[in-house]
Amino acid sequence: MEFSIKSGSPEKQRSACVVVGVFEPRKLTLPAELLDNAARNYISDIIRRGDMEGKPGTTLLLHNVPGTLCDRVLLVGLGKEKEFREKEYCDAIRTAVKTLNETGSFDGTLFLTETSVKKRSVAWRIRQATLVAQETVYRFDQFKSKKDEVRRPLRKLTFAVERRNELAPAEEALIQGLAIAEGMALAKNLGNLPGNVCTPAHLAETAQKIAQDLAASCAIECQILEREEMAALGMGSLLSVAQGSRQPPKLIVLRYRGGRAEEKPVVLVGKGITFDTGGISLKPGAEMDEMKFDMCGAASVLGTLKAAALMRLPLNLTAIVPAAENMPGGAASRPGDIVTSMSGQTIEILNTDAEGRLILCDALTYAERFEPDTVVDVATLTGACVIALGHVASGLFANDDGLARDLLQAGDEAHDRAWHMPLWDDYQDQLRSPFADMANIGGRPAGSITAACFLSRFTKKYDWAHLDIAGTAWKSGTEKGATGRPVPLLAHFLLKKAGKLN
Ligand code: BES
Ligand code: MN
Ligand code: ZN
Repeated sequence: MEFSIKSGSPEKQRSACVVVGVFEPRKLTLPAELLDNAARNYISDIIRRGDMEGKPGTTLLLHNVPGTLCDRVLLVGLGKEKEFREKEYCDAIRTAVKTLNETGSFDGTLFLTETSVKKRSVAWRIRQATLVAQETVYRFDQFKSKKDEVRRPLRKLTFAVERRNELAPAEEALIQGLAIAEGMALAKNLGNLPGNVCTPAHLAETAQKIAQDLAASCAIECQILEREEMAALGMGSLLSVAQGSRQPPKLIVLRYRGGRAEEKPVVLVGKGITFDTGGISLKPGAEMDEMKFDMCGAASVLGTLKAAALMRLPLNLTAIVPAAENMPGGAASRPGDIVTSMSGQTIEILNTDAEGRLILCDALTYAERFEPDTVVDVATLTGACVIALGHVASGLFANDDGLARDLLQAGDEAHDRAWHMPLWDDYQDQLRSPFADMANIGGRPAGSITAACFLSRFTKKYDWAHLDIAGTAWKSGTEKGATGRPVPLLAHFLLKKAGKLN
């Protein structure tokens, strides 16, 4: 889809459809009022008859509205003006784009982007509208032999801004929104691919392709470490997870250098379990298909790096993805096995289904060599996090309160929220092992916290945060599919760091 920004009056738009908002009860927004004036109260007359209350989620499509140059006018309900906030704004954009796409408009001009949202700038509104629009038209149908095509799909969207001096920040926000949307689409596509296609090798090839495609326009490079190289580095913990699978593990390192040479990088580490059967501690059968999403952390860090590179952010960024498949089999590790991690610490594997932390710990030790400014790992780590926070917030853990605050704020700003969880030493005791330096599980209580505590033992040399996205990375049920989260959170974190947030 094509996007553009415009400032101008709604009645003068030569567009297949002009979209304006109506607050509840029956209160026209300013652009709607302008249209109504040009149309000699045609719209307010219709509204008075009760066809549009302004309730959220409702729409009314009008044809041949007098006094206007567009083919159609779409009224979108915004709910009560006092309750109109971030979520309501995004919902209204979604409703508008969905309706435009289904009603055969080739192009549309949205005046919803002129509606003010408390505490949010024009740039925020445009960035968010772009993201939501791209999300609304996203389809994953590459494995369907018959695709349900939209008959006359929406091809071009124009976002209106009130004043001419808002054009420049809006243009920049549009470019950012498109980049973040592309990163999200990459994350979703990788997440949605089945485990027989999205193997560790496939993740590695995807990372290499990102580097190839962008190499002409920025400094980006990809390196893949094979099993032998990981063995030479002493990554016994990571390799123990892969040893039950026919799929060879990969350690993917994708580096983007947009900052000065001496500037320390932000390192993003993503859990890349391409399928999690649980291993010898086999998972029950119900919904096990969803464990193809166990590489969504990896997908999100690759997506975020791609977005940052597309935005040419002036900072250095490194994505590290430990990728493996967790399978049972004759060569698989068994409960009670003891492995030695790259850090030298030994781990008793009491449950082979707690494999995420086993691959992450070696990747986190590997991250030290980049002398990071900050390390953030992203992982579908624990079912316990889903119990704690549901599908709304990602779990956030950090060894630095400033970093935690910045990530929370980025999540808030991107409407991709996280919630700060404790990482107190009091929980560390649960990881005691009689035979090794630690066990890989801490029992049922506080499962997402003890998982984070495990990781914290490998991140003492830098500022580090951990995002548990087990509840937010994908949706189950009829809308099953990857969400692309937390690409928006991470992208906003980086935008802010680069001083590019308006
Ligand atoms: N990938 C799972 C976590 C998960 C489970 C995410 C369900 C989303 C939905 C992870 O590898 C896992 O199996 N964790 C175990 C840890 C336990 C054995 C300590 C869990 O959460 O049950
Ligand atoms: Mn598992
Ligand atoms: Zn897992």
